[in-house]
Order: sequence, then C-alpha cells, then structure tokens
Amino acid sequence: MRKPLPRLGVNIDHIATIRNARGGDHPDPVAGAWAAIQAGADGITAHLREDRRHIRDDDMQRLQALCSSENVPLNMEMAATSEMEKIALDLKPRAVCIVPERREERTTEGGLDVVGGHNHIAPIVRALKENGSRVSLFIEAVSAQIDAAAHAGAEVVEFHTGAYAHALDEGDQKKAGEILEALRAGAKQAKAAGLEVHFGHGLTFDNVTPIAAIPEAMELNIGHFLIGESVFLGLEPAINQMRSLMTKARYG
Ligand code: PXP
Repeated sequence: MRKPLPRLGVNIDHIATIRNARGGDHPDPVAGAWAAIQAGADGITAHLREDRRHIRDDDMQRLQALCSSENVPLNMEMAATSEMEKIALDLKPRAVCIVPERREERTTEGGLDVVGGHNHIAPIVRALKENGSRVSLFIEAVSAQIDAAAHAGAEVVEFHTGAYAHALDEGDQKKAGEILEALRAGAKQAKAAGLEVHFGHGLTFDNVTPIAAIPEAMELNIGHFLIGESVFLGLEPAINQMRSLMTKARYG
C-alpha cells in the first residue's frame, strides 16, 4: 500500500546535540534513526555542519549504511562548500539538500540565495546529480529564487517554514497568514517549473496542519520539535502523532 503524502523526513541532528553535550556515545543518532524508521519515518535527514556541532562524519557513514540496508532515503543537508561536496560525492546519499550556513547562527536562518549564488551552486548541483543524489535547494518562497533553483538544475526545492513558525510563536496571525500565502503560491510556481516541493524548519504539532495541507507538498522535514517532544512522549508516539496530523491535513 502506498504511504500517504506528504512524506515525513525525520531530522535526527538533535539526538547528536544531546550526545555531544557529554562527549560520549549516548544517545546515538543512528539508533535514533533506526527507531524513527521503525516508527514509520519515510526518510532520515541529517545536517553535517561545517563546525560538526551535532552530526559528525562517522555518523553520516553509519546513517548511510543504515538507510541503505533499510531501503530508506538518507537526506544529507549541507552547505555549498567544496569540503561538503566531496563528502557527499563519497557518501552518495539518496538525497542532498543544499542549505545556507553561517558559523554564528543557532540554526539555519533564511533560505539559500540561489539567484546571487548561481555560478557557485549550479556546478555543485550538477556534480551531485551526476553522482546519483537527488538535489534539493532550501529556499524562501520567493519567485526569483524558485526560477533560479530550476535554472540551477535542482529537482526539488524545500521551502523554509521558519518565518511562518516564528510568526505564529509571536502570536502574529496576520503575518503567519501572509507567509502561508507566499508558501502556497511558491509551491504552485515550483511545481509548474517541474520541481518537487518540500517544506521544513520549525514545524510542530501546532503549526504543521496548514503546511501539510498544501497540495504540492511531497515531503516535510522535521527535527527539533520531534526530538524534543520524544522526551515526553517517546520517539515513536511523537512521530505517529505528527504523521497522523499530516495525513489528516491532507485527506481529512
Ligand atoms: N529542513 C532543513 C533544510 C533544515 O536545515 C532543518 C534544520 O536543520 C530542518 C528542515 C528541520 O528543522 P527543525 O529542526 O526546526 O524541525
């Protein structure tokens, strides 16, 4: 039986954040990925940051081995640097999502500037695609960025939902509504340009429904909230609850 859309990619970075807080091996993000797969995650997402603040190189190797053996896609998030390009070319994850990265940021703030960075990004997209990875660009739902993503050869765009989530956190319904409209319009434009549409960042039980209901949404990537909530509920119930909210949003 086909699984319902959108797919749920579980980002396990913050299991590694907890592990690294004590410098040992526990909790192991790869064990977390295995538990997420058993709980019905459609994919595992991990961000190998330049500063290795959570996921490390050996985690990526072990995640790739696990995902290959479980036949679940590994989505490697990475900055558009030659170091990361080389690692991704060696690792051959099923999917790569290119994200902007600044050392001083707490998390990925804002989308990639594909318009300004075209000459730098397009060759990386091409090399990764030729190597067998499906490449996604993490952008804001801005018309020029969507066109540039298609022009750069990406097959997927992931729209940054951080500003939408933040507006709701601040109680600014009007702003959240405007951002949601832009995300909906962006999804239509991207699909018309032949791009698959994903969403991610800051999604929770409380704000996921309107995003999952967007008809073009094929995948949501969710990390921080699910890992945080699993402290209270356990990982499997947290994933199940997210999945059922997503399915209800789409199919009623
Ligand atoms: N998608 C992308 C491209 C991201 O960079 C992140 C954060 O690493 C996420 C999704 C997940 O965001 P969150 O951890 O807030 O759910």
